[in-house]
Formats: sequence, structure tokens, C-alpha cells
Amino acid sequence: MQIQPPVINIFEKAVRKAGKYLLRDFGEIENLQIQSKGLGDFVTNADLKTEQILIDTLKYYYPEATYITEESGKIIGNEEIIVIDPIDGTTNFIHGIPLVGIVIAKIINEEITDGVIYNPILDDFFWASKGKGSWCNNNRLRVSKRQDIIDCIIGTGIPHMDRIYPQYLKEIDAITKNCAGLRRLGAASIDLAYVAAGKLDAYWERNLNIWDVSAGVLLVKEAGGRVSQPNGESWDIHSKDILVSNSNIHEIIQEKLEII
Ligand code: IPD
Ligand code: CA
Ligand code: CA
Repeated sequence: MQIQPPVINIFEKAVRKAGKYLLRDFGEIENLQIQSKGLGDFVTNADLKTEQILIDTLKYYYPEATYITEESGKIIGNEEIIVIDPIDGTTNFIHGIPLVGIVIAKIINEEITDGVIYNPILDDFFWASKGKGSWCNNNRLRVSKRQDIIDCIIGTGIPHMDRIYPQYLKEIDAITKNCAGLRRLGAASIDLAYVAAGKLDAYWERNLNIWDVSAGVLLVKEAGGRVSQPNGESWDIHSKDILVSNSNIHEIIQEKLEII
């Protein structure tokens, strides 16, 4: 078993503390106060409370860092960046679907060095640190070994409400005809963690933010997977679109997405 680096211990402390509150709220979703940030884009009092717990806990250990958070925006500090998504999968949460992730990642010099994703409902704690592998509840994660896309289950994010992209139905058509099934889990962080865990064989989505994908990208890389943009160009922390895979089926998916 890999010993968790100190930064992961701190992130774990923060997400487990926040997760306790979230779990309580999940049991009483009828009392949630829900506001709309845009069409189909919701924020609840649970998102705001969770984010505050994370920031308060992390600021004790990293008072000088820069924070990039989904709900409170950017808190400018030094070159060490901490990225937070208090609930990835808010729509799942509101509907009582237990696929959510509390996400924290650290970025230095444009590189994601450490990240955690915690699902307090399933009590799944994922972490990865550069060079130290990907882990969930003390088990080492590895991407799947499947080689033939016809055997593969592929995750995606489906645009909805005002986020309609004309080519998206063609993308689904091109992929679904050739694989064992598509999944839309509703939480990008969990999609990425499940690729790292070998449950999904690949995942692509467009128009994401760094807080959705930061920790998950490192999990996939450290589990032996590949990360790029859907057109094969390299992915960096400013990219909006992503394709990750077990690496064996990367090119074939890329080709199918590219011919559209
Ligand atoms: C959303 C989820 C979802 C993805 C959306 C994200 P949120 O994050 O990750 O799976 O399709 O694009 O915005 O709003 O629940 O934090
Ligand atoms: Ca998110
Ligand atoms: Ca969120």
C-alpha cells in the first residue's frame, strides 16, 4: 500500500469533513434550497456550505495559495493553485442519485500534481499524486485492458438545455454504433475516476471547467490511461474538451470523433 503524501492527508481531511454535511443533506433532499445559475445549471445550499467547509479547512494549511473554486470564484494568492468543486454532480444530488464527487486538486506551474475525489454517499475516496499512482480506499487503480472498442463501455456528458452542440448527436451515433454501451453518469469527476478504476474504458465530454476534471485527469494518468482533447491535441489545464481512455482504444475513438 502506498503511504499517502501529506498534501493528500490534508485534502482527505477537508473532503471527509465536508462529506459528513453532504451526507446529511442527501438524506433530506426535500429540504434543499435550489437556485438556478442558468438553464439546467443549479446550485444548492449544500454546494455553498460544502465549499465553505473546504475553503476554511484548506486555508488553515495553505493560507497563501490561490484558490479556484466553482462557487466563490478565484481567491488570488501565490503560484500554488488549489482547485475546488464542492459537489460535482449537483443535478444527481438534487435527484437523490448517489453519483457525486467532492473534488480538490493542486496545480503548480500548470501541472496537476495531486488530487482527490470523494463520494460521501458511497464512501469512495479516490486520490492520486504525481508518480505515486491512483488509489481508491487503499486499492491501487489501473485502467482496463480492453483492446477492442466493441467490448468497451464509454462514458460521456450529454449537452442539455442551452448547451446544445450541433455535432454532438453525430458523435454519439459514431461511438455508440461501435461499442458495448454508452454511459452518462452526470459527474465528470466520477467518469474520470471510473476510467482510472477500469470500470469505464473511455470517456469524452466538451465544455468542461478545470474544477470538473483536475483531480480526475491525474487519476487517469497515474492509472496508466491516456488524456488528450477529443481531436488528439494535447490536453492542458486551459482545455475545455477532453478524451480519456485506457490508452489501447484512444486512437480509434479519436478517429471516430474526428470524422464528424
Ligand atoms: C457538471 C457535471 C456533469 C457535466 C457538467 C458539469 P456540476 O458539474 O460534471 O457531469 O456534464 O458539464 O458542469 O455542475 O454538477 O458541478
Ligand atoms: Ca462540476
Ligand atoms: Ca459543482
